[in-house]
Amino acid sequence: MNLQNICLLFLVLLLLFINITQGQLEIGFYSQTCPDAESIVKSVVSEATLEDPTMPPALLRLHFHDCFVEGCDGSILIEDGADSERRAFGHEGLRGFEQIEKAKQEIETQCPGVVSCADIVAMAARDAVALARGPNYAVETGRRDGKVSSLKLASDMPDVNDSIETLKSKFKNKGLSNQELVILSGAHTIGTAACFFMPKRLYEFNETNDSDPQISPRFLPELRRMCPKNGDINARISMDLVTKDKFDDQIMRNIKKGFAVLASDARLYDDRLTKQVVDLYAEGSQFAQDFARAMVRMGRIGVKLGSNGHIRRICSAFN
Ligand code: HEM
Ligand SMILES: *[C@@H]1O[C@H](CO)[C@@H](O)[C@H](O)[C@H]1NC(C)=O
Ligand SMILES: *[C@@H]1O[C@H](CO)[C@@H](O)[C@H](O)[C@H]1NC(C)=O
Ligand SMILES: *[C@@H]1O[C@H](CO)[C@@H](O)[C@H](O)[C@H]1NC(C)=O
Repeated sequence: MNLQNICLLFLVLLLLFINITQGQLEIGFYSQTCPDAESIVKSVVSEATLEDPTMPPALLRLHFHDCFVEGCDGSILIEDGADSERRAFGHEGLRGFEQIEKAKQEIETQCPGVVSCADIVAMAARDAVALARGPNYAVETGRRDGKVSSLKLASDMPDVNDSIETLKSKFKNKGLSNQELVILSGAHTIGTAACFFMPKRLYEFNETNDSDPQISPRFLPELRRMCPKNGDINARISMDLVTKDKFDDQIMRNIKKGFAVLASDARLYDDRLTKQVVDLYAEGSQFAQDFARAMVRMGRIGVKLGSNGHIRRICSAFN
């Protein structure tokens, strides 16, 4: 072997070593080690949806909440008393934990200790979008589960009351663009919000306006009727009242016309740049395709790879 070849061999070995210790996300990460993982998740999500048609939005939201706190590392799943991450205000109403745990249990019987809970959440979100007739994309896997979960860390979470500046900076801090803020908020094309999140927007917006001026005058009475002052905070309303069960771009036209339900969606129209993006999608361009791409990008936030993190045995507790 000449020197050149030895150098080449060394380089290849080095890259292999880096790959093993650092790992990387890839499509089909478990194709050799747990070939049925994806199909198990898919069937658990489908069955759960047959029983409860509100499961897809719940599972989609779970992935978002997992990724924004400590990265997509399953930390949101930890049930560890009053200080758990998932007890934070912004996580109110999160569901789907049982379905993730169920998929994990089934996967563990086939290949114990191989598939992370963080990846199950990412796969379930992908399957949820497809079931709601949204885009079907290939999901990257190879995430490892994190070892911390704390209420204090939840402040990275975007809040319904956040200004557009705050929303933009919270997404930017996670490496996501203004355009991705808009397209990912498009997830609100399915699912519901509790009236719990509405009073400020409908009755005490700020010192000068009692309601959010972005609400169309035609829509305000309807919203107030659905979420009356001092009414039931647990009552739920669809976030896309036009096509509530279909994953489509209607939400963008709702925002444009002042028919956004959530305050944070309405804020997207406060800013010149995000407004342009809303307008673009409202006209029907590439929403599904761009949403899928943005989901893949969101799924990369702060992931733990290789020798970082670990694989939990059950999703709700540290090993
Ligand atoms: C931009 C910042 C965001 C804010 C402030 C926000 C806030 C909220 C709030 C307050 C709810 C109602 C929760 C409830 O009452 O149960 C909700 C629901 C939901 N969010 Fe977001 N969200 C944001 C972005 C996202 C993103 C990026 C995704 C996913 C990619 C997402 C997916 C969902 C889904 C699917 C629901 C419906 C949940 C259900 O029906 O159970 N949200 N969001
Ligand atoms: C956001 O608004 C809701 C009412 O709509 C209020 O209960 C909550 O405390 C507000 N959150 C923050 C962080 O200000
Ligand atoms: C209240 O909100 C409106 C609309 O966003 C804004 O124009 C106004 O300046 C705000 N008032 C105060 C006191 O912040
Ligand atoms: C909101 O407040 C602003 C002043 O900050 C005022 O010009 C505007 O007319 C108000 N809008 C509504 C709908 O009350």
